[in-house]
Amino acid sequence: MTPVRALPLEQLRQRTSEKWREYPADVLPLFVAETDFPLAPAITTALERAVRDGDTGYVASKTPLADAFAGFASRRYGWEPDPGRMRSTADVSMGIVEEAGAVVERVPLRDTDSGWELDIDGIRVALEHGARAVLLCNPHNPTGTVHSARSLAALADLAADHGAAVISDEIHAPLAQPDAGFTPFLTVSDVARAVGYAVVSASKAFNLAGLKCALMVTAADETTRLVRGLPVEVEWRTGQFGLLAAVAAFSEESDSWLDGLLVTLDENRRLITELLATHLPEARYREPDAGYLAWIDLTGLGWGENPSKRILREAKVALHFGPAFGAEGAGHVRLNFGTSPEIITEAITRIAALDAPRA
Ligand SMILES: Cc1ncc(COP(=O)(O)O)c(C=O)c1O
Repeated sequence: MTPVRALPLEQLRQRTSEKWREYPADVLPLFVAETDFPLAPAITTALERAVRDGDTGYVASKTPLADAFAGFASRRYGWEPDPGRMRSTADVSMGIVEEAGAVVERVPLRDTDSGWELDIDGIRVALEHGARAVLLCNPHNPTGTVHSARSLAALADLAADHGAAVISDEIHAPLAQPDAGFTPFLTVSDVARAVGYAVVSASKAFNLAGLKCALMVTAADETTRLVRGLPVEVEWRTGQFGLLAAVAAFSEESDSWLDGLLVTLDENRRLITELLATHLPEARYREPDAGYLAWIDLTGLGWGENPSKRILREAKVALHFGPAFGAEGAGHVRLNFGTSPEIITEAITRIAALDAPRA
């Protein structure tokens, strides 16, 4: 298998997306969840063909997307979702929480000796206080946790007991490492199929966020009816390029590219363990089960509530700041390692070189 390697820094600096335009050129951008890899060849071919033919109109009402995702889910997760129970939209965030008029009650994961876990008791309390839906992040951002099938089944039962829905954001699922045992929520039980909605996309794994395409997937008549009943505009906002790229991403042709990417991300998550042990032994970090985001606890350094400020100012490395993910993120940073080992090494070396008062 050929590992997928990041593009050189000079080429990346030619990009015009958020990751490469938010900060000046002396900053290493390891914040927003975009990656530094070239596109999978099947995606390049599909987009080049569309540009050549001026295939830039509205998405069609009949497309191969649902079948492509069903094939991907079957090959990668052993899940056989029904293409007739899917609808596309622009992105996973569409309609989530505040935009849909909902009030958010946060229930952080529990930090246990063996990793992070869903706080089933905390979710129960929120449901008893009237929550109508659980927004599940599966795998979880920023910790990269792949939830166990057992905890997902418990969550489904709990939601059903309270008449609540579970919306499972599975945007990072294609990036679950092969040994992590990722479980799609809708495969967990009949109860999960009755209460659950999955929202999936090729955008994180294949770096397609700007092209705008995601899928809502259901597995029961009532949930399917609800998704079908959403305004037609929800589907019309799917990007044509996003759809073409997603079909190529989910095709069998892209499987070996994705396997190669997972090899690189596995190497990178281990590299971070080594670099932190050598240069920043006060940092606490668990290798994520999925994705390219490292959640690093820097409280041991005594750099305050939001260490990313000082790191940006003095080390010229842009990270996501922990408190953005909730109060429990104080003293933490999120580092995007969807890049080259050289950039990761340079970033951690720069951070470690800060003349810091050690706690
Ligand atoms: C868990 C999760 N959900 C949703 C999103 C945003 O996805 P989209 O661009 O499809 O709205 C992100 C972006 O990183 C994410 O990590």
